[in-house]
Amino acid sequence: MPTDQIRLLVVEDVPQVAQYIRELVSASPRVKLLEVLRDGRTVPDQVVQQRPDVVLIDALLQGRVGGPELAGQLRQAGLPPAIVLITVPQRPLAVAPERGIDAVLSMPFTGYELINLLQTTFQAQQSRDASAGSLLLGVFAPKGGVGKTTIAFNLAVALQQHVGARTVLVDGSLQFGDLRALLKVPADAPSILDLPTDRIQEADLADVLWRDPSGIDILLAPPRIEMADMVTPRDVEKILSLLRRVYRATVVDLPTNLSDLTLAFLDATDVILQVVTYDSTTIRNTASVAETFRAIGYPATKVQYVLNRADSPGGLDPSLVAATIGHAPEHAIVSDGRLVVEANNQGVPFVLAAPDARISGDVRRMAEAILPLRRPIGAGTSAMTGER
Ligand SMILES: Nc1ncnc2c1ncn2[C@@H]1O[C@H](COP(=O)(O)OP(=O)(O)O)[C@@H](O)[C@H]1O
Ligand SMILES: [Mg+2]
Repeated sequence: MPTDQIRLLVVEDVPQVAQYIRELVSASPRVKLLEVLRDGRTVPDQVVQQRPDVVLIDALLQGRVGGPELAGQLRQAGLPPAIVLITVPQRPLAVAPERGIDAVLSMPFTGYELINLLQTTFQAQQSRDASAGSLLLGVFAPKGGVGKTTIAFNLAVALQQHVGARTVLVDGSLQFGDLRALLKVPADAPSILDLPTDRIQEADLADVLWRDPSGIDILLAPPRIEMADMVTPRDVEKILSLLRRVYRATVVDLPTNLSDLTLAFLDATDVILQVVTYDSTTIRNTASVAETFRAIGYPATKVQYVLNRADSPGGLDPSLVAATIGHAPEHAIVSDGRLVVEANNQGVPFVLAAPDARISGDVRRMAEAILPLRRPIGAGTSAMTGER
């Protein structure tokens, strides 16, 4: 199938290596070799003209432009989709998509290794491009009753209505999803369980999403507690990557436990919005979660803190929160008991019911600050390690 072929451009100045790659590639119907270039300086022009899917560059390229330097130039110029560098064991190279190094192949390599790496790198790049520019947010707290569901709902509405990003809200509390009750949806409303698990497609989404009167789409949790077991981490991964392709913003209301399912959600998020309040249990749990996230390997920038009921220290020293998380919380939302309870009881977002209230301004500001954190084009998890 010629249309499935990967169009490959090779930059290699050692004739023997160039010849070896030619032979390997010509034996594979999956890759079409466009050309082998010897001089790095000609590559950007050739990439524009020949539109390769993958550029394979010798990291030890001699001449005016070195291999890694060329990769960086191509990535900066937004060309081409995927870049693989070849090197020798004595000169190890780290994968760094932001510098144009999507994957590294060490010599000597077999045809199988080369073709496989070209394919996986190309595919990873394609799925990143499809989700580029989308934002996946997980609203999390290690304790219930802190305002997670309230914030997730109102933030999703603010992202769509105020910031103009098409938004979907996902109830990630699969066992005790709060959104059904909050939004007063009928018991037979579809849920995440109504999605086919083997091959989910965009067309399936329309049938399983709940259209809330506030204008956002919502993927509900199953109607009964024991049904949560039917959803696997792999399902979560697939569903989120599908939603990413359709929506600019996805907001997930997460449960308070760190189960495998919660971790599947958290792994996929660009930003974890962790809700804290002036409450000693919440603050203590927040500290242990921060430690867990570090141990998992989440970068510190993946977590942003939302101080809810920021004006109600409840007798606690206000500096305690900043001392626990190591810096001032990125976002703050004031307390407004009357408005929040009334809006929640009616199942409407306060950001629409009372747009002029201070609390609504706080949520809108958070939405504006967060949307620019969208996943950039050409970045993301490395092709070598794959998505965790
Ligand atoms: N900023 C706030 N001001 C006043 N009340 C709030 C605020 N945020 C949340 N609440 C109230 O706190 C309670 C718990 O909120 P909820 O969103 O259900 O928390 P969680 O999802 O973390 O369990 C609700 O009764 C809600 O009305
Ligand atoms: Mg909740």
